[in-house]
Amino acid sequence: MDKEHKTIVSPSLLAFDFSDVRSSLRTIKESSAPWVHFDVMDGHFVPPITFGSQLISSSRPHSDLFFDTHLMVEKPENFIDDFAKAGSDAITVHYESTVHLNRVIGMIKKHSIMAGVSIVPSTPVSALSEILEYVDLVLVMSVNPGWGGQNFIPSSLNKIKMLDEIRQIEHYSYKISVDGGVTAQNAEELKHCGADILVTGSSFVKAPDKRAFVEKISY
Ligand code: DX5
Ligand code: ZN
Repeated sequence: MDKEHKTIVSPSLLAFDFSDVRSSLRTIKESSAPWVHFDVMDGHFVPPITFGSQLISSSRPHSDLFFDTHLMVEKPENFIDDFAKAGSDAITVHYESTVHLNRVIGMIKKHSIMAGVSIVPSTPVSALSEILEYVDLVLVMSVNPGWGGQNFIPSSLNKIKMLDEIRQIEHYSYKISVDGGVTAQNAEELKHCGADILVTGSSFVKAPDKRAFVEKISY
């Protein structure tokens, strides 16, 4: 892959104070990260519940960041229109969350926004063989979804490499995103394997100089 381009950094709101989303969006903007990652959890697909489309529609007038929505919900087909109309620039759904993945990806694309698919750590890349040609983004979960602050699962590296190889061989255009346990220490290797987008929660929030952190992991 093209090693010259900068990696996109997508800080996750999950690691921030939910009572002050507007200032979190400002912090992300000031760090020079171009994206913000919204982790939507329904208490079924993953045990925790976070927020719904209203947080995105309320945030939209206050931010020009790229809104990167990650739906960790069962039956995402029931929610696509709401999250798209709320102002998402990309919506990613889980392979494991619906039997109608092709239809759901089509629903997202109807809104002329990026359509993404994600796999949890126990799902192999091969499960995506019938959908890769239709998606704009593949999000590799490098921790088990549900919580921030977990350690990166090393076998995710191989998945990123496989996805990078497949897109080169098949001339697919999807971006590869990595979500979970991304740190200043592993960012370079992730990019080297083929990652284009790095989602970062706890490492971003803990970084004393967020602009320097974003610069370091996107280099
Ligand atoms: C986990 C979420 C992640 C999470 C990443 O289910 O999808 O986006 O916020 O957090 P860190 O970077 O702390 O692993
Ligand atoms: Zn996420």
